[in-house]
Amino acid sequence: MNIRSRAVVLALSAALAAIAAPQVLAQVTSDSESLSGSNKTAPGIAQKPGGGPTTTPEPVSGQQVYQQICQACHMADAKGGVGAGTIPALASNPKLNGAAYPITVVVRGKGGMPPFSTILDPAQVAAVVTYVRTNFGNAYVKPVTEDDVKKLWVAPSANDH
Ligand code: HEC
Repeated sequence: MNIRSRAVVLALSAALAAIAAPQVLAQVTSDSESLSGSNKTAPGIAQKPGGGPTTTPEPVSGQQVYQQICQACHMADAKGGVGAGTIPALASNPKLNGAAYPITVVVRGKGGMPPFSTILDPAQVAAVVTYVRTNFGNAYVKPVTEDDVKKLWVAPSANDH
């Protein structure tokens, strides 16, 4: 930000306004916007009060993953539904007793459910499986860990990463 150069640009804009075609004025004005620094918020450029980097939070908690991905099919109350196909309830579902089964379904997919190993990482799978096993009337309290998930992970290659 440079107040003097901004003043010069504005003065120039004013001078041009008297003589120039509107497009030229618009050009000068938009140049001055991009030079004007942090007082202005240009469209598309997020400004944080502290000036730090802006990041989009990834879904990290099990609840966030559930709400962003799973509930589209399994519904907000996890009771599933019957429409074009049958979506099983996760609510009060005794098949969630063992962690391996829900982990495997999420990682590899099953029937009408796509595999999620391409869009979720093992920590996110662990979080969401823990979430469904401890909510919606399920009380399988032992948390699923990232390592539990990695053991069942289907990687594109044999290498662990
Ligand atoms: C595109 C729709 C869709 C999405 C999104 C989806 N599921 Fe499913 N899910 C299904 C269908 C359909 C089945 C039944 C598959 C079968 O048995 O053929 C299923 C089955 C399951 C099962 C096994 C239930 C049982 O009783 O056998 C679990 C556990 C599960 N899903 C968890 C999840 C979790 C956790 C997520 C989010 C990461 C998720 N699903 C996202 C459609 C979906």
